[in-house]
Amino acid sequence: MVGMLTRVGVQCALFVALWFVFLSHDSPYARHKFRKYSHRHGPHGEASVQVASTKDDFSWETVVPSEALTWTDCYSGNQCARLKVPLDYSHPDAAFATIAMRRIQSTVSHDSPDYRGPILLNPGGPGGSGVDFIASWGSPISTIVGPEFDLIGFDPRGIGRSTPRVSFYKSRVERELWAGSGDSAKVLSMNASADTLARSWARAIVDGTLAGERDDGSLRFINTDHTARDMLRIVKAHGREKLQYWGFSYGSVLGATFASMFPDNVGRLVIDGVVDSENYFAVEWSNNLLDTDKTWMQFINGCVAAGPMGCALFAPTAAEILENVDRLETSLRARPIPVRTSISFGLVDYSTLRRTIFKALYSPYAQFPTLAQALADLSAGNATALFKMSESPGFQCGCDPSEYRFESVGEAGSAVLCNDGKRIPQDYEGVLAHYQKLSKTSSFADLWEPVRMSCLAWPDFPKTHFQGPFVANTSFPVLLIGNTADPVTPLWAAKKMSQGFAGSVVLTQDSPGHCSLSGPSICTQKHVRQYFLDGILPPPDTVCPVIASPFPAEDFKTGMDQQAVLALSAADRSLSEAVRELSMSFDIRFPAGL
Ligand SMILES: *[C@@H]1O[C@H](CO)[C@@H](O)[C@H](O)[C@H]1NC(C)=O
Ligand SMILES: *[C@@H]1O[C@H](CO)[C@@H](O)[C@H](O)[C@H]1NC(C)=O
Ligand SMILES: *[C@@H]1O[C@H](CO)[C@@H](O)[C@H](O)[C@H]1NC(C)=O
Repeated sequence: MVGMLTRVGVQCALFVALWFVFLSHDSPYARHKFRKYSHRHGPHGEASVQVASTKDDFSWETVVPSEALTWTDCYSGNQCARLKVPLDYSHPDAAFATIAMRRIQSTVSHDSPDYRGPILLNPGGPGGSGVDFIASWGSPISTIVGPEFDLIGFDPRGIGRSTPRVSFYKSRVERELWAGSGDSAKVLSMNASADTLARSWARAIVDGTLAGERDDGSLRFINTDHTARDMLRIVKAHGREKLQYWGFSYGSVLGATFASMFPDNVGRLVIDGVVDSENYFAVEWSNNLLDTDKTWMQFINGCVAAGPMGCALFAPTAAEILENVDRLETSLRARPIPVRTSISFGLVDYSTLRRTIFKALYSPYAQFPTLAQALADLSAGNATALFKMSESPGFQCGCDPSEYRFESVGEAGSAVLCNDGKRIPQDYEGVLAHYQKLSKTSSFADLWEPVRMSCLAWPDFPKTHFQGPFVANTSFPVLLIGNTADPVTPLWAAKKMSQGFAGSVVLTQDSPGHCSLSGPSICTQKHVRQYFLDGILPPPDTVCPVIASPFPAEDFKTGMDQQAVLALSAADRSLSEAVRELSMSFDIRFPAGL
């Protein structure tokens, strides 16, 4: 899939001319571009989540794994490598794992004194593929960090093209029939019907049982502790001692783990969309939704402010829009709507609506206007647009199993988070109590409860790996980034985690959405570049604005005008193009499966 994806990035010369076109989703060009993104990231978005690219144009089998770093050209213009690392770091000579890496090389020559080495990226999940991440967003991210750095996306052990690969099922077909994949791995609202919670509980126990039964002995080594050690190996294979890293979402757990385990090996470390690692390792999943309703209200209030021209779901007050959405939920619960499109078919039901709303909160700049239109269509009885927001082509068997040897699968994410965390009791009453408590923190608890359930019947492996505390005097201070309305990683968690890392700074981005790249901020990304390049941290309490609003009508009021664009330096212009491009497509899932 990835090889054929030629970047549609607009060149600088065209930039000004196209600026205004970008601002409106209604223009044919923007629609085209947006569709292209959806198309391009549809499969990928799932990669950080469920199924990745089902097929690769590049054959990873041709790359011989080695302990030394050997790069092979791949994916027209990138380099790929497979690094051999110990499967079990307490018996480093017993067996090995291989870590698949994809690199965008610095344009500054590696011999030049200006060359600054590799930055490792982690796209979250857990279960997200760094190789796919580079394919989708590597190019604008390298515009941000600058030409002095290589960017490396790697598939963490257990995931995608790294081996051993986690799989609970005997075949793709078995997985598809039981769990589904991609958008057919439908996350249900626990509020969909009276027995949804209980059924999900029982299904999770089947999954945990399969995980144990089909483990070849490698499953226990798929954890964040070992991935942090793998990152150190990657750094050392480059002949370096210090890690440079930008981790998103779950990638903040990985980053915080690395910083705590190897504080003397921190060169630059950015964690963005920060998870409370203690809560994560306790398998609580209880404080992720502190700002979810705030993000949802930014959709509602943004729609009111955008006016009838800017927001298809417009009503004069927030209360009226909320009532309309409630009505849609009640109506779908009673009468799901059948949908047939040119590529697939299915139902829009209560869970579809809840899930689609929740998912849109991750990427407001790409999705709010689309969501508003889809909800307005739904009010008029047409569910097609809502269905299409998470449509994926139907499952294809594939004649040749080796084609799918490196496919990312949903259960890889569960493996990481369940191995990482403490054991949790299996009884239904405990799950019910957890759900009731979680429901008090957010109206989106119905979609979040399943995350923790995936660990209910997890095999009883010894828990000898690092699980905290997340405190360190790191050899270089950590930079944490949080958005003011992140639906799954509230700013609060960034501030909490910062307390453990001496000298660390929290940079706040004033935008809704998950991770800084979901919102277009020149300010934030300049700080990121300054941090990587010059080692300068933003002053404490820095709050960065974004250059647009999620609703295009607002763009014209509060976004940058043409004069402002012309006044930008060439570097800032390409930066603003990169952040805007990212905000229109960036979409990583936390956790796997959502
Ligand atoms: C429903 O909306 C879609 C666009 O999402 C449109 O193509 C289709 O014609 C509409 N169907 C009806 C019956 O209006
Ligand atoms: C569940 O549905 C009921 C209506 O059937 C509603 O009152 C309640 O707010 C919903 N709860 C959540 C968490 O969505
Ligand atoms: C960090 O350094 C301070 C001052 O030297 C010391 O008190 C503290 O215990 C150190 N923290 C860690 C986690 O090593």
